[in-house]
Amino acid sequence: MRMYDLIMKKRNGGVLSREEIEYMIKEYTADHIPDYQMSAMMMAIYFQGMNADETVALTMAMAHSGDMMDLSAISGTKVDKHSTGGVGDKTSIALTPMVAACGVKIAKMSGRGLGHTGGTIDKLESFEGFSTGISAEHFIDQVNKIGVSIMGQTADIAPADKKLYALRDVTATVDNMSLIASSIMSKKLASGADAIVLDVKTGSGAFMKKEEDAFALAKEMVTLGNMAGRKTIAVVSDMDQPLGCAVGNALEVEEAVATLRGEGPEDFTKLCMTLGSYMLIAGGTASDEEDAMRKLKQVIEDGSALNKLAEFVQAQGGDPNAVYDTSLLPKASIVEEITSDYDGYISKIDCDEIGICSLILGGGRETKESLIDLSVGLILHKKVGDHVKVGESLATIHANDPDKLNAARDRFLKAYHFLDHSVQPAALIKGIVRE
Ligand code: URA
Repeated sequence: MRMYDLIMKKRNGGVLSREEIEYMIKEYTADHIPDYQMSAMMMAIYFQGMNADETVALTMAMAHSGDMMDLSAISGTKVDKHSTGGVGDKTSIALTPMVAACGVKIAKMSGRGLGHTGGTIDKLESFEGFSTGISAEHFIDQVNKIGVSIMGQTADIAPADKKLYALRDVTATVDNMSLIASSIMSKKLASGADAIVLDVKTGSGAFMKKEEDAFALAKEMVTLGNMAGRKTIAVVSDMDQPLGCAVGNALEVEEAVATLRGEGPEDFTKLCMTLGSYMLIAGGTASDEEDAMRKLKQVIEDGSALNKLAEFVQAQGGDPNAVYDTSLLPKASIVEEITSDYDGYISKIDCDEIGICSLILGGGRETKESLIDLSVGLILHKKVGDHVKVGESLATIHANDPDKLNAARDRFLKAYHFLDHSVQPAALIKGIVRE
């Protein structure tokens, strides 16, 4: 087999066989196929697409390109959750202790973020001492003892995807549905959970700007998961404006903690309850959505979800006191209000732009090597549909550098759009994809 022939076949609209895809992934992982040939293949796939059989073959080849995590030492159903990502998405930090407090085992692998704010791991590092660089033995033991652990994705989990995703990132070939579906699902399948709940985002801050594309991506991933024998369900949710109010690592942790106290923003709380209810059903601790919602409300009201977060943070070396006293989280030196120059209703927020404000402040990574400032970011006080008066605060900005603050403020003000009549914000939950 020659990579040249496979590139030409796909360029001309042909269908790659399972053997051809397995050859390509095996040889690329072993560094026998150069990046320039794989880039050409990714671009050919980007334009010609892949059919369902090709997508399955690519997913399975990437999942098996490294270790397949064995979680059989953990009793019961292990449930994983994955979001396609967005601005202010701190869901895992509130959701995993909520669900674990209801008795579902969470053994989750997460990554660091590139762009916007950090990923879940970066955010969790706001707890001083917290580490996701734990061994597989520690990970499994912790899930058995306290029901929840989040470990950093190791180099041995789907190494083909790791290499390919980095290549796609710099060759403008990320936003292809089959490539996104196979990339995400290869990692999820290799991570070993029995059931997977996906949060597929749509809107100006998501990969899938159009709702129909988000549903198609959700369907593709659910099919891949179920075919591989993992119970998989997807929630399609709004990312046309930031989720909740906090954008920035430690600020998002603080909002997740407030949510576990029952004091979180309405949209963020609703998303956690919705995703959580499917996790409880998949994990076998709730009979239906109503039962699941009741259980999730209970663990917030009685404080056990908050206590579970403290237990989880402590088990991974972090300071659990910061869960009960968030003044112990990293704090920025400059805190300023951004006020409105308009009287009117917020009609639209350019979601990506708010993420970029956090990046400018130092809260995200421009390159894989960038260091993150965990303390900076924004707290939005006004969201789509809200009324604002001239001089009223739109947001509080947390910064450590006056120049970065000025740049972020300018960008922020351009991201908000106003009208003189009220506007209905988009629905948060767009739908559920089961099969
Ligand atoms: N997240 C991934 O892991 N892979 C993609 O291709 C896109 C988002």
